[in-house]
Amino acid sequence: MTEPAGRQPAKGLWGGRFVAGMAPEMVPLNLCLPVDGRLWREDIRGSVAWARALWGAGVLTEAEVKQLHEGLDAVAERIGREGLVDAPEEDIHSAVERMLREAVGEVAGKLHTGRSRNDQAATDVRLWGMAAAEAVLLDLGRLVEALIGLAESGLDDIMPGYTHLQQAQPIRASQWALAHAWAFLRDAERMRTARATAAVLPLGSGAIAGCPFPVDREALRVELGFEGISENSVDTVSDRDWICDLAYAGAMIGVHLSRLGEDLVLFSSTEFGFIRLSDGFSTGSSLMPQKRNPDAAELARGKAGRLVGNLTALLTLLKGLPTGYNRDLQEDKEALFDTVDTLSVTLPATTGAVATARFRPERMRAVMDTQLLATDLADYLVRRGVPFRESHEVIGRLVRRAEESGVGLSALEPEAFSQAHEAFGDDVLRVFDWEGAVDARDGVGGTSRRAVLVQLEAARSSLSALLNR
Ligand code: ARG
Repeated sequence: MTEPAGRQPAKGLWGGRFVAGMAPEMVPLNLCLPVDGRLWREDIRGSVAWARALWGAGVLTEAEVKQLHEGLDAVAERIGREGLVDAPEEDIHSAVERMLREAVGEVAGKLHTGRSRNDQAATDVRLWGMAAAEAVLLDLGRLVEALIGLAESGLDDIMPGYTHLQQAQPIRASQWALAHAWAFLRDAERMRTARATAAVLPLGSGAIAGCPFPVDREALRVELGFEGISENSVDTVSDRDWICDLAYAGAMIGVHLSRLGEDLVLFSSTEFGFIRLSDGFSTGSSLMPQKRNPDAAELARGKAGRLVGNLTALLTLLKGLPTGYNRDLQEDKEALFDTVDTLSVTLPATTGAVATARFRPERMRAVMDTQLLATDLADYLVRRGVPFRESHEVIGRLVRRAEESGVGLSALEPEAFSQAHEAFGDDVLRVFDWEGAVDARDGVGGTSRRAVLVQLEAARSSLSALLNR
């Protein structure tokens, strides 16, 4: 067999045991660097800490650690300047090791003592994931802020609340905007949890059995900013649960973005017209001059597909793997990176679309049918001692009658009410008051002005608690 040309794993990693090089068809399958190359900072950080740990364990001299540290700094500087374009290695760990050798010579060969790419890869990606989760949290915070701002602007706007996408009961527009804010606040909680499960140090687990040199894992933990130390080396090298946690938080964000996106698409349509999206987050048509498309909202809705897909890919990847590290696990990174990258473009754009959107209360009023107050009418009879089931029936007949006469519920003759039930008094038309109806829902979580103001305050304090924790 001829030696394959092109990208090759550095022979130095395991060359001793092999006679022939890697088959050319194997090279692209084996390749990880195009994906994990972005972990170079984390890889170097981990290696600096590992060199110090090896010194602490009596494996390296002080002079060697100093050499390695300077060399790793030089590699960081080099990658920062040149990137990794020509690196022939299969992954970032091998590429950094080769560059370190180029920088400091043979002492580079001492760094991998007691360490495996298995615990190294797990460490790098956790370091990356912890920072990524923080960044997503900040983006989520900005979106929640924008939704709270929109809610504040809609405090006095009353719109139809929908169930089954049919007009149900009137609500304040703020109540609608805050409904989305609470969903994203729960997502932020999930993202915090994912960050916490990521913050467990794998280094010191080796390939599977731990490290035979007395490295101080607690010192490694502190130096690298982890919150805990993994308890079992076998579990550690294959534990990707935290990536699933992050991908799940990301998938839920996707689901919530898609629901907000769908509302914005519907509400900005001519038929609804409750919301106007700004020019900056809309697009036109190359053919139809009149078009104003809600692309930001549609893309937010569409990106949910890949966010859910990444979680599915990860769970499927992990299912049925034998204990310990398996090369399948290399596939963890693409899904994780894609989730974070997708969120990092989708959240800011959605935030911008929400922050610059305006309610159009006149359009809300225009489509509000007084049937939205049928429940309030039933409640009117309940307050006069009629059992709810009976009053439901009575109002149902009135609704049918109004429909048959082609008038709104509030336009029925006063006699229609008194004929329908003796408990109806002259004051029945007072029920047809939008403000009165929303302000009647005054309990915690209700849509009265007072309850919504309390809710706005609660959302603001949840947001600041989440961001400052
Ligand atoms: N690139 C691998 C990963 O990301 C780490 C390398 C482990 N390879 C190995 N043959 N043990 O999971």
